[in-house]
Amino acid sequence: MLILGIETSCDETAVALVKAGGNNFFVVDEYVSSQTKTHAPFGGVVPNLAAREHLKNLPLLLKKIIRKNKIQQKDIDLIAVTQGPGLIPALLIGTNSAKALTYAWKKPLVGVHHIAGHIYANFIGTNPKLQIPNPKQIQNSKFKIQNSEPEFPILALVVSGGHTELIFMKKHLDFKIIGQTLDDAAGEAFDKTAKILKLGYPGGPAISACAEKYPISNIQYPNKSQIKKQKNTRYQIPDTRYQLPRPMIDYPNFDFSFSGLKTALFYTVRDNPKILKSKKLTAEICAEFQQAVIDVLISKTIHAAKKLKPKAILLGGGVSANKELRKQLSRAIQANIQNTKYYIPDTKYSLDNAVMIAVAGYFRYKLAKNKKSFGENWKKLEADANLKL
Ligand code: KG4
Ligand code: ZN
Repeated sequence: MLILGIETSCDETAVALVKAGGNNFFVVDEYVSSQTKTHAPFGGVVPNLAAREHLKNLPLLLKKIIRKNKIQQKDIDLIAVTQGPGLIPALLIGTNSAKALTYAWKKPLVGVHHIAGHIYANFIGTNPKLQIPNPKQIQNSKFKIQNSEPEFPILALVVSGGHTELIFMKKHLDFKIIGQTLDDAAGEAFDKTAKILKLGYPGGPAISACAEKYPISNIQYPNKSQIKKQKNTRYQIPDTRYQLPRPMIDYPNFDFSFSGLKTALFYTVRDNPKILKSKKLTAEICAEFQQAVIDVLISKTIHAAKKLKPKAILLGGGVSANKELRKQLSRAIQANIQNTKYYIPDTKYSLDNAVMIAVAGYFRYKLAKNKKSFGENWKKLEADANLKL
């Protein structure tokens, strides 16, 4: 079946055409229009500006994807749109456009939870045997062939600008949040910290690029036996001048807290004004901050995996684009919990995109008992800024 995916929950306008068959997916085409430049002067996303940009860009992207792929009404089988959570003025542009298309084309419409999308980004891949409409598209394709899809039970760590959650899934679409942030999300902490360090917006890529300038030889990874002996999986930067806290790392639950870490960094910078004047010192504190976030994320994930014994650990959300997090979580899994497969999305599918929405939408549609109700969604579906998983 051919699915049209639409995502407008925050500051990326995205559309995708995904062909699905037997839980395999082929990305026929996709476009993402980022609003980073629009929001950068404000140091964060301005909801009404985001809506204005979506309103301008979504029709253009839809027109482009439909025309370029010579899509006719009959070709589309399902429309999937992000229903929430997110910024309501932004979500409304996506849901209302999807509803209009659904009404005009008489197609089923499925609303997708944005976090479900980030989790299902790990199912994007393709089966080479799948029939593709146009062989040229295979040559131009930008996705990897996935040999196996994640097996249940699954433990997912979703880290984005608005969410930091550990989610346990015994089967498809069965999401149990076992831990979450009590205050700032990990991505939010990156963004706010970048503001303090005057590194610009969005903060995650800026901090990780800056941290790379701190000599990597200074980061000592504990070896397998050291990790095994340790109670928590902590990777410390041993000779940093700036020691930031690892909030809640020793708590027995799976919740997170990142606002104190950002405040600790704020006071460190206030008390050491040299940091902002020196690229070397800024890089050093960026490395320590990034490592503090990674230490907590890894420690909680390993702790949860040891308890719940998932067959697969999935990483998702914008912060999962972070190279150090991707690498260090992989090492921690290898060292601590063999027999657990580790999945990370392609970096571009870590960030907001419409392919993941189409894939999650496919599972919602496929597994629903009453498929007819999706045909009524052109009048029933409502954007929900606080949609529950
Ligand atoms: O999932 P996403 O694109 O949007 C939301 O759903 O929030 O995530 C955006 C967040 C931002 O906070 C951004 O700073 C962070 O992901 N981010 C990163 C990196 N790339 C994006 N954080 C750390 N390292 C990165 N390389
Ligand atoms: Zn997201």
